[in-house]
Amino acid sequence: VRILGISGSLRRGSHNRRLLRAAGALLPPGVELVEWDGLAGLPAYDEDLEDAPPEAVREFLACVEDADALLIATPEYNYSFPGVLKNAIDWASRPPDQPLNGKPAALMGATPGLGATIRAQHHLRQVLVFVNVLPLNQPQVLIAEAAKKFDPAGRLTDETTRGFLRQLLEALGAWTRRLGRR
Ligand code: FNR
Repeated sequence: VRILGISGSLRRGSHNRRLLRAAGALLPPGVELVEWDGLAGLPAYDEDLEDAPPEAVREFLACVEDADALLIATPEYNYSFPGVLKNAIDWASRPPDQPLNGKPAALMGATPGLGATIRAQHHLRQVLVFVNVLPLNQPQVLIAEAAKKFDPAGRLTDETTRGFLRQLLEALGAWTRRLGRR
């Protein structure tokens, strides 16, 4: 099962990017994770560009198409997920390609505060309904007080969180196979 990992945060020291990297080291057998790092390079969605999408957009659509499943690590910005992530979803939602259609997915998120990205993930699920992405319902990976869970080098050291991440990856592998994507 080939998973495309997307961090919704662009910043270098992002907890969510670190979470994605941690996931890459906790994969069950038969599952691989490729991080897609092109979010910052995507232009703002413009319907006028749909007939001849910019190169960065075409590359992104191809990455989504090639993936059996998605793993999205989202921060919470103003009770939602970041606009840059919505922008990517908008690009990938349009005909004729619509590579998100029917794609299995898993969500996770980290915040330094206590909110644990609950509202961001809930909002992201709402948006994924319309583009027909099929996210796992369980387990939920909601990480509060993220600064305590990574060491200064950015490694995920909290054992409970590592356990949730393992469960999520196993469940995503099984979900993807069950949906016949691999
Ligand atoms: C935030 N942050 C934030 N946190 C939260 O729990 N709920 C929220 O609604 C918001 N809103 C918000 C808006 C904006 C514009 C920023 C920049 C930040 C704090 C946020 O969780 C924190 O910056 C995280 O560290 C962002 O994730 P990364 O970059 O560490 O992955």
